[in-house]
Amino acid sequence: MALKMVRVSPSILAVDWQNEITLNAVIDQLEHSSASFIHLDVMDGKFVQNKTFDEKMVEYIRNRSTLMMDVHLMVENPEKVIDNYLKAGADILTVHYEACKDIEPVLKRIRSKNVLAGVAISPKTPAYKLKDLLKTGLVDVVLVMGVEPGASAQTFIPGMAEKVAEIREMDKNVIISIDGGVNLKNAKLLRTVGANILVSGSTVFKSKNIRKTIQALRGSWGSKFAKLFKKDED
Ligand code: DX5
Ligand code: ZN
Repeated sequence: MALKMVRVSPSILAVDWQNEITLNAVIDQLEHSSASFIHLDVMDGKFVQNKTFDEKMVEYIRNRSTLMMDVHLMVENPEKVIDNYLKAGADILTVHYEACKDIEPVLKRIRSKNVLAGVAISPKTPAYKLKDLLKTGLVDVVLVMGVEPGASAQTFIPGMAEKVAEIREMDKNVIISIDGGVNLKNAKLLRTVGANILVSGSTVFKSKNIRKTIQALRGSWGSKFAKLFKKDED
């Protein structure tokens, strides 16, 4: 059996900037953790009420970090802006299923730049809606929202873990990311039902030890291996 690695993608939307922590310091903390990505929530004030940042933020972080850029576009008509994010250095570029009139050309465009194409589904969108799209082979990542898109620190909606399981059942190979309401209590279940990437905002950034929290979200095998190596050294 192959060892399945679960990746953590901390969402900087949850950083409490009032604590006067700088963006560079946050990047540095994540660089020194076992996070694989930095999750960037782009909101346009239309698809969701809040407005956040644009491609300049992605470019800034890209130039200062070795981590992969996991860009989550919560914007209307994403086809109008995807090129900006491709240029800015996204590694995964995710658009919302609900925001696209014609999603296939959008995914093809993303892939043409060797970037992983993601499709996000909001809680009210059932998994079966993706069935035909998954069959096209154009989707690299399915991002299942665990909360309504728009804000950090909401409670995980029951049934979203089952949705992950349903998608895993439909497609054994697609990368599944779960975003919103992920915490140290539900992480194990989410890993078990087939999630590959755990996006986490408040669980990571409200914790005292960001590095340990990220490791805990990834699960026990990281620490089991650490123990094994320790034994060897003894
Ligand atoms: C919500 C965003 C999430 C959010 C996650 O619209 O897509 O990425 O920042 O935050 P937590 O983990 O606090 O729910
Ligand atoms: Zn997100």
